[in-house]
Amino acid sequence: MKSLKLVFISLLLISTMAVGQNSDNSEKVMENILNRKSVRKYTNKEVKKEHLEQLLRAGMAAPSARNFQPWLFFVIDEREILDNLAKQLPNAKMLMEAKAAIIVCGNMQKAGEGEGREFWVQDCSAATQNILLAAESMGLGAVWTGAYPRKEIVNTIQTELKLPEHIVPLNVIPIGWQTGQEKPKQKFTEENIRWNKWEDK
Ligand SMILES: Cc1cc2nc3c(=O)[nH]c(=O)nc-3n(C[C@H](O)[C@H](O)[C@H](O)COP(=O)(O)O)c2cc1C
Repeated sequence: MKSLKLVFISLLLISTMAVGQNSDNSEKVMENILNRKSVRKYTNKEVKKEHLEQLLRAGMAAPSARNFQPWLFFVIDEREILDNLAKQLPNAKMLMEAKAAIIVCGNMQKAGEGEGREFWVQDCSAATQNILLAAESMGLGAVWTGAYPRKEIVNTIQTELKLPEHIVPLNVIPIGWQTGQEKPKQKFTEENIRWNKWEDK
């Protein structure tokens, strides 16, 4: 009986510790999510390949419709290519200062057929957000600069990087180390929420 009691108490202790760890973790995760911001200015420090690999790991951990993973991550860490892109993309001039970029592309050969085909946009968006959050957690700065569905931007990137037609850039993410200038915006508002039933606000 005594040993049964002991086992019970130990189990209780272990589960309490586990819950404690979870809540610690969730605090950190929430802090990271709330701290994420678009970062468009970077320090001079190099971004190492290992850091970029971490971001790619985060990207590929994203959910995707039917787990098709219809993405291709085009990584650029060569100065000349970053500068050439910056010159041609007015919405992504920060590539001039960035140390690297990840272009999140849809791989249309891996996307589904029929009505579900367009899910590639959501799949790649989820991957993008994972990359942005991972960057924030590492002290890296990054920003989503849009490509698809803007035909001109998509064509420019495809031509400049000689991408095959089935590789469609959803965005370009310039990456560098944060300078500490940018701060997260406060966006939480009750106005965007309804509980249980529709009510005009
Ligand atoms: C689909 C999409 C396209 C965007 N395109 C650009 C862009 O072309 N250039 C840019 O500087 N920021 C771009 N952004 C970043 C937004 O401007 C930014 O997320 C927004 O202002 C909110 O700021 P925050 O990211 O700091 O919270 C884009 C964001 C999204 C989601």
